Amino acid sequence: MASIERMTTLAKEISDKTTVITEYLTSKGLEAASYDVNGLAEFPIPPEDAIPFKARLELAAATRELYDISVGPKQGLRDLAWDSTNNLSLQAIWEFRVAEAVPLDGTISFEELTTKVEALNDGLQIGVLNLRRFLRHAMLNRIFCEPTKNQVAHTRRSRLLLEDEPLKNWAGFMCHDLWPPMANAVNAMKKWPGSEEPTETSFNYAYNQNLPWFDFIQQDQTFSKRYNLAMKAHGGAAGYSVEHVVEGYPWGELGDATVVDMGGNQGYISFAIAEAFPALKFIVQDTVGMRTQETMGTVPPHLADRVKLTTHDFFTPQTEAAKCYFFRMIFHGFANKYCVKILQALIPALRKGSRIVINDGALPEPGTVGYIEERAMRTLDLFMQVTVNAHEREADDWAALFAKADPRYKVNRIWKPERSVMSFIEAEWMGE
Ligand SMILES: C[S@@+](CC[C@H](N)C(=O)[O-])C[C@H]1O[C@@H](n2cnc3c(N)ncnc32)[C@H](O)[C@@H]1O
Repeated sequence: MASIERMTTLAKEISDKTTVITEYLTSKGLEAASYDVNGLAEFPIPPEDAIPFKARLELAAATRELYDISVGPKQGLRDLAWDSTNNLSLQAIWEFRVAEAVPLDGTISFEELTTKVEALNDGLQIGVLNLRRFLRHAMLNRIFCEPTKNQVAHTRRSRLLLEDEPLKNWAGFMCHDLWPPMANAVNAMKKWPGSEEPTETSFNYAYNQNLPWFDFIQQDQTFSKRYNLAMKAHGGAAGYSVEHVVEGYPWGELGDATVVDMGGNQGYISFAIAEAFPALKFIVQDTVGMRTQETMGTVPPHLADRVKLTTHDFFTPQTEAAKCYFFRMIFHGFANKYCVKILQALIPALRKGSRIVINDGALPEPGTVGYIEERAMRTLDLFMQVTVNAHEREADDWAALFAKADPRYKVNRIWKPERSVMSFIEAEWMGE
């Protein structure tokens, strides 16, 4: 009976959550997201409206579970194993620029569409049979639709491939550039067992080259532009907002102090914290390559006496004495071996009570956060393996990392500000 009860519970939960969402939207005169070509691409529910915001995530998780139950374990496994076909149809649509050839108003026949798409692809023979099968498969993922037989129209999802530049590049990067490495992750593990090297990844294996990921993509302008835009689609999500960094850590507790923002890029995070905490000064360190005449950013004039953009390689001994060393989105890009080196290179500058503040992923214990959130984090973890042989860390992993670097580090606490995707890890130097 337990399985029947679970179905009933889920169905009720789905109904209840839907009511929370629809009542919220109705009370504000808003629409739900929709696949209609002119519909809303996202639900207009800001994270601040916590109850409907959470209800939507829970609704998605409950519908997914009920779907999985209704499909059943056996058929579900069959489907899962050949789900890469979703990437295939999306890749073909992205590669052949189909979204550009479908009118936003009205429809186009498969035959006419094939002629237009082939023209967009320098006359490449794709053929109506192939185009139609890719599209009809993608339609099951609500990318394009066929309102009447043989006539293709946009949906809101396919329209994003036309109009949303970061998301379009995200699709291209994932389905085109990252697909061969995904398919070769296990082969790379067999070739380089236990490797922590950024030059022994599935990216190296699939592209048969021996450069670290960033160096490799930077060789090719198209590739690196696509990656940068794709990351905008990811980092642009509300959970990565700078406000979570500013509000998520008690910066005021540091008092009249200097913060060294290590791998701080052009300083945009330090600028935001400096705006909110006038007693703090920032030294933003990054590689020499980020501080050439062409690449160096500018500090807003009103912050110029409190924020400095400088160079420092975080694998070499730190020379700036400061109250706090801050790392945002650095550690998840390196395997333990290299993270230990980064922490050890800090030691010469540390004094008793110096703080190390890390803003990065912290994997939850399984099942302790919602399905949708956990899935996003575990997917990112695999992405880090495929691209750089690094990984996201759980609370115990963070503690072990600091302990391995030096027993005088003490991890004070690890927490995730509400609505933030990333966590804070705060450690303190207990030595002299
Ligand atoms: C993922 S970005 C994070 C940037 C910034 N902290 C943020 O949160 O947006 C990683 C940064 O680390 C820098 N970086 C990479 N290797 C470095 C090194 N050895 N020393 C200092 N910075 C480095 C990169 O140039 C880049 O700006």
